[in-house]
Amino acid sequence: MRQFYRKFHMKRDKKQKIAFITGVTGQDGSYLAELLLRKNYEVHGMVRRSSTFNTTRIDHLYKDPHKKGVNLFLHYGDVTDSNTVYKLLGEIRPDEIYNLAAQSHVRVSFDLPEYTVNTVAIGTLRLLEVIRDLKLESRFYQASSSEMFGDAKPPQSEWTPFQPRSPYAAAKVLAHQLVGVYRDAYGIFACGGILFNHESPRRGETFLTRKVTLGVANILAKKQDKLYLGNMDAKRDWGFAPEYVRAMWMMMQKKKADDFVIATGESHSVSEFVELAFGLVGLNWKRFVKIDQKYFRPTEVDFLQGDFSKAKKILGWKPKVKFEELVKIMLNSDLKKVGLSLKIN
Ligand code: NAP
Ligand code: GDD
Repeated sequence: MRQFYRKFHMKRDKKQKIAFITGVTGQDGSYLAELLLRKNYEVHGMVRRSSTFNTTRIDHLYKDPHKKGVNLFLHYGDVTDSNTVYKLLGEIRPDEIYNLAAQSHVRVSFDLPEYTVNTVAIGTLRLLEVIRDLKLESRFYQASSSEMFGDAKPPQSEWTPFQPRSPYAAAKVLAHQLVGVYRDAYGIFACGGILFNHESPRRGETFLTRKVTLGVANILAKKQDKLYLGNMDAKRDWGFAPEYVRAMWMMMQKKKADDFVIATGESHSVSEFVELAFGLVGLNWKRFVKIDQKYFRPTEVDFLQGDFSKAKKILGWKPKVKFEELVKIMLNSDLKKVGLSLKIN
């Protein structure tokens, strides 16, 4: 893929910005690629090799690179493979790098701690080291997480101390702190976006919100009869992913690199999400939801609620989609996915 890019696309418009996205096949990567293409960026996405297709979220953006006017280029790579990261960044020399790649599932990070730390923390370090070593002028965005706050009392802001409760969160804290170190020590323009949970119809199916909306749709379509969940009491600040990737881009356009909390400022429990999703299609969740201990985490984050006042003041960012609308967007998408014509207004 790389040679192809070099051969056909070196004569690009000099004013056109170039972005490099790790994790382009994920929920956020796909929305971010869409946003940057709309803004006329040349977008380079790093894709992991897998035996089955992992590009479904970006297939609608992909065009035959033999044609003119193509702005999306995909390259095989992995954040655990320094050599490839080095070669890709050296060749593409992007204006903006968005590091979204991660083993992003908190529960799974207890089963795969070493791999999680390798992708999340050391993966970030690898990218920062390449920027430093090649003296790239690229701006760097790090996908930091509200999970880093762990046990800290809500509402959590940029000034709240981190108290990580999982291997995933501990790895995100290390990555976030490395971003600060590289910013101060080497003058790299590096931002840490501390994003609270954000969801969409493209959310992975094993995360709570999507598991519930797809479960409700399947139950209604008689394709599933029970939904097995874990802790119903945890509270999360759930926002809408397309709005959150816009915040990433906004941070990268400022004069000064900084860290920002991105959130809705509202928090709801897992049981509230479940009750609303089932209730919207006229079902009583208590008839269908069963508790399975295997979905509990050894240590839980009980209460996340973000204070996004810094982002509002400095970036002019604020969320539009709130809790009920988010549940409806996701539910309508999954009702359609399972072949039902029902639409919730
Ligand atoms: P996601 O859907 O799980 O996407 C993760 C992406 O990382 C996928 O493209 C995945 O590739 C890729 N990836 C995983 N391991 C990799 C590796 N070793 N090398 C290269 N790529 C790798 O996650 P998301 O929800 O879009 O989140 C994006 C980022 O924001 C993540 O870093 C996540 O931890 C962070 N974050 C998310 C939230 C949220 O609520 N969504 C909140 C705060 C922070 P495959 O498609 O091949 O698996
Ligand atoms: N996944 C899942 N599956 N979660 C469940 C289930 C279940 O069956 N039952 C209850 N939960 C609870 C979890 O224990 C957690 O308290 C809450 O639902 C949300 O879980 P997830 O949707 O898996 O998200 P998360 O909050 O652990 O992590 C997400 O948000 C972080 C930002 O705070 C991920 O996207 C992380 O990558 C992200 O950093």
